[in-house]
Amino acid sequence: MSSYLDTLLNRQFAIAQGDAEPLPLPKFDTYTICNLRGDIGKTSLAFNLSYLADDILAVDACPQCNLTYFFDNDYLNNVHLTIYDMLLPAFVPGLGTASHVAKKISATNEFFEGKNSFYIPSDTQLYVLPSQVSNAIFQAKTITGTQQTEIVDAMLFSLRDNLIREMKDTKTSRCIIDTSPFFSGATHLALHACDALIVPVRTDQQSINSLSLLMKTLSDPASEFRRNMPSDQHCPKIQMIVLTHCGWSTVPGSRNRPNQQTKVYVEKVLDIIRQYITFFTSPDPLNHLLLLDDFLGTGRISSAKSKPIELLSEGESLTINRVRTEVNASVRKVQNQLKFIHSCIF
Ligand SMILES: Nc1ncnc2c1ncn2[C@@H]1O[C@H](COP(=O)(O)OP(=O)(O)OP(=O)(O)O)[C@@H](O)[C@H]1O
Ligand SMILES: [Mg+2]
Repeated sequence: MSSYLDTLLNRQFAIAQGDAEPLPLPKFDTYTICNLRGDIGKTSLAFNLSYLADDILAVDACPQCNLTYFFDNDYLNNVHLTIYDMLLPAFVPGLGTASHVAKKISATNEFFEGKNSFYIPSDTQLYVLPSQVSNAIFQAKTITGTQQTEIVDAMLFSLRDNLIREMKDTKTSRCIIDTSPFFSGATHLALHACDALIVPVRTDQQSINSLSLLMKTLSDPASEFRRNMPSDQHCPKIQMIVLTHCGWSTVPGSRNRPNQQTKVYVEKVLDIIRQYITFFTSPDPLNHLLLLDDFLGTGRISSAKSKPIELLSEGESLTINRVRTEVNASVRKVQNQLKFIHSCIF
């Protein structure tokens, strides 16, 4: 087995025990969780990392509203301003701006009691934002002179500028943005609203394809992202790729060895990191890949109760869709992995 894989697995073993050395990474205030594929763990990570950060603004930029549901199970009946109300005035002339959009999480999720954490709810209306954004940018580009630059910048940085105001209002110092699996619209704006990216990749080939697509989006001059750059050429770097749904060998004596599937995807992801290392926040590929075990029943219970994994204990059970589900024995390991990811970003 190659030495880089050994280094990575030894570190994962230390992380599982809760005694790994922190990685030598720069830290940022605002991260976007993004990869152009669904069901890979973006929202689960956004929810659990939001819990681990004590004062945070968590932003739901996905029209499915899954993160919003984690924070408020009754959000459909609770009338409030959403991210759509906040963004639309930047693209449709004549609309008044929406402010004080953030809501305190502890008001609707008891597990966040005592934390100065807020969230910006999403809205299914966000599904129509892509056409509004692209029409408005197209129109703006017909304007001649320096005004064009100012107008396009204001559009591309509309989410960033709104979040700066909301963070000031809520006295939060950190921000995590959850995105949809699609680039156009809110995800595009979320790439310009953050300092760096967290990229979940599931252990399957489609996730590798979507990682390649994301890297192309960030790097290819012909991509929609690169063709519409703001005047300062802002492009977020990647802080961390989190390989989700990892499994480990159950062969006796093979402790700390990934199963074959996990091993294959560790190698594929490391190849891509090496190829695009200038798009990462440090020059060492090994600083940018962390493994997160398959949550199994623990994840199902966390979702069903909107309860952060950090607060679950082994053996806790719940009947979900008539199936008795339990928090797995490996919950401590997953908690340590999540805490380590948190320590690498804030
Ligand atoms: N290691 C893991 N990391 C993240 N999610 C995991 C992991 N293991 C299992 N899961 C499960 O995988 C599912 C991931 O769903 P999640 O909603 O977080 O994905 P998503 O990327 O946000 O999807 P979408 O693009 O549809 O919004 C959840 O049911 C979660 O419990
Ligand atoms: Mg999601």
